[in-house]
Amino acid sequence: MSATGAYAHPSVYDILHSPHTQGEIDLMQRCAREHGSGNGPWLEPACGTGRYLRVLAARGTDCTGFDLDEGMLDYARRTLARRKSGGRVRLLRADMADFLAAIGRRRYAVAFNPVNTLRHLHDARAVTTHLRQIATALRPGGLYLVGISFSRYDEEEASEDVWTAQRGNCAVRQVVQYLPPDRHERLETVYSHLQVNRTGGREYLDSSYQLRSYDLDQWKGLIRRSPLQRVGALDDLGNVVTDDIETNYQIEILRRD
Ligand SMILES: C[S@@+](CC[C@H](N)C(=O)[O-])C[C@H]1O[C@@H](n2cnc3c(N)ncnc32)[C@H](O)[C@@H]1O
Repeated sequence: MSATGAYAHPSVYDILHSPHTQGEIDLMQRCAREHGSGNGPWLEPACGTGRYLRVLAARGTDCTGFDLDEGMLDYARRTLARRKSGGRVRLLRADMADFLAAIGRRRYAVAFNPVNTLRHLHDARAVTTHLRQIATALRPGGLYLVGISFSRYDEEEASEDVWTAQRGNCAVRQVVQYLPPDRHERLETVYSHLQVNRTGGREYLDSSYQLRSYDLDQWKGLIRRSPLQRVGALDDLGNVVTDDIETNYQIEILRRD
């Protein structure tokens, strides 16, 4: 199984994830209205295929996205180029661990990083630098919205999710398996099994990767040591989440004061 193949098929990734994108942007715009400091450009670290940037731009928001993977960026450039109107979008190649020089002097009203993507940074120092750079990239009062699943060490068992989606004549089914992380090693192993059905035939694509794990206390400690403040959290349905509520996934609302 390839260790790097998870994002090697941008169009398949985009087909699977695009159906949820409008709703996720609705939630993030609500966070911006309720906790932010007004309108301004948005920044997406690790923007992948640019599915969020397409929606934001169509709603008139100027944005910048960056990613490490040229294949993802190519796909994002091609699909964004087809737009006829809306906000301006800038795409860059940069690493979440050190991106400030690449994005330049522009300052953002909102930065956002959904679907556990921040957890691709395995190294504690890289995450600390990332949060410091995000704070610099934000205007005073700017928000960092981070979509994250917290671990419950010693309580979790291996689990799996199944996702299906279709675009045109391409139908995709993905089985994702998660192996629980250890509290000290802090790496969750994820296996992805994709089945892609097109008119010409069926293809199977397998990959695996690891994500840094956080339980709620590890996360709160990280944010306390950063220049950002935790100001709230929402679950994926938009319900307010407090620290005594367990969710599978939540949007953490962080603010640069
Ligand atoms: C789960 S995808 C998320 C893409 C996009 N945010 C979305 O939700 O559609 C993860 C993305 O993170 C990118 N990535 C992983 N590590 C990165 C890093 N250190 N710096 C920048 N991008 C990274 C991958 O190339 C991939 O496009």
